[in-house]
Amino acid sequence: MADPRTAATMADGALRRTQRRLMQPAFSNDALNGYVPIMGRIVEESLAALAAGGPFELRSEVRTTTVDLANSLLVGLTGLDSAAKRELQAVMDDFFSGTQALELSEDPNSVFGRGLAAKKRLFEMLQPALVEQRDALLAEGHIRSDGNTKPRKSVLGCMMDARIAMGDADALHDLDVLTYQCIGMLMAGVDTSGSSFTTLLVALTQMPEVVERLREEQQKVIQTHGPGLTRAALDAMKYCDAVVKEVQYIQPAGAANLRVALKDLEIGGCSIPAGAMIVVHWHAAHMLEDAEFFGRQTVPLPRAGRPAVLDKDYLSQVFRPERWLAGGVGGRKPTMLTFHYGPHTCLGTTLYMLEAKALLAALVRGYDLELLADPATIPWTYAPLSLPDRAVPLMARLAARA
Ligand code: HEM
Repeated sequence: MADPRTAATMADGALRRTQRRLMQPAFSNDALNGYVPIMGRIVEESLAALAAGGPFELRSEVRTTTVDLANSLLVGLTGLDSAAKRELQAVMDDFFSGTQALELSEDPNSVFGRGLAAKKRLFEMLQPALVEQRDALLAEGHIRSDGNTKPRKSVLGCMMDARIAMGDADALHDLDVLTYQCIGMLMAGVDTSGSSFTTLLVALTQMPEVVERLREEQQKVIQTHGPGLTRAALDAMKYCDAVVKEVQYIQPAGAANLRVALKDLEIGGCSIPAGAMIVVHWHAAHMLEDAEFFGRQTVPLPRAGRPAVLDKDYLSQVFRPERWLAGGVGGRKPTMLTFHYGPHTCLGTTLYMLEAKALLAALVRGYDLELLADPATIPWTYAPLSLPDRAVPLMARLAARA
């Protein structure tokens, strides 16, 4: 389903180096600062709309907000009406499922077949907006009179600038490449963030003491930075930052990934021949590290011997945001593998952190979130992403604080 010219996450060598060079400026500090006001507005509007309605299904509402964030921040698609948003979300769901299909059948009723149809529709829906953005960008020029590039409000806008800066403006006229880049961004940023926001919220509803501490921090942040969710305010939220990181550590968006050894290796006394496929299970690695930190005899993986759930019992065993604060636990710093290291490391890590902190800050400042389902009865699935089982509705209610 991917195009070989743009599938950077699957490529190696010169192609991925070029793709990464194109993507990097879109995640620079300057670029991120340009996205912050938009993300603040989206999370505040989403929470206000949820509080104004009755109970809702948490996972699907979180996904709607994530798709809104991605449409605006990643591809610069603003101004979609709610019917267009709903259709785009449904089409993206079918497309993403198609990319995970185990059977590559073109039967239109199969998962892969529906994915192919969704891909066609995604192209039809995205391309007019992409052409509009590209033409506006080319018409206005990307260099300011002081020689700097103009700030862009979306990742795709920055990538178009980077293409021009590489002396390759002609490539912007290859609409298929632009569309694949845009879909690639949506694939990298939507489901990962969406599943993480859900996990974060489910965990928080069970830890009122953590919510209280987040609120205390917000009061201090507001005293110093005012009520706006600015970049400086988000950077000042150290405890909030630790909570977001901790959730990625104890319940990462994805638990494991595959790699192929390019040469003979020895890791921890285990010989791995070149060409062997390796499962890198970072959720297990985090929990082994946790056991070492706290001198535990057993590793509290949520799957051990029972249906995996994200309940109070599991959280009380592992949730330790202090490990991310200055000083850590016993002076030791944890290792976060969820976003990877090395040449494929996630480019969207800081973007995700800022989005999650904006969401948490807006939530604890203005609302009480209540889960209407008992988390101890909701099985969690781990592949391809960590999420509560889709078959069980995850009802919740949001009330504005007096
Ligand atoms: C909780 C949220 C996220 C998690 C856990 C996550 C995790 C990851 C991981 C593990 C990889 C490496 C994949 C591999 O090597 O096979 C990756 C790559 C990537 N991620 Fe994220 N990601 C998240 C959010 C985002 C967001 C919001 C974006 C924004 C577009 C993004 C953009 C990317 C890109 C562009 C790559 C490819 C980097 C490259 O191959 O050079 N990610 N991500």
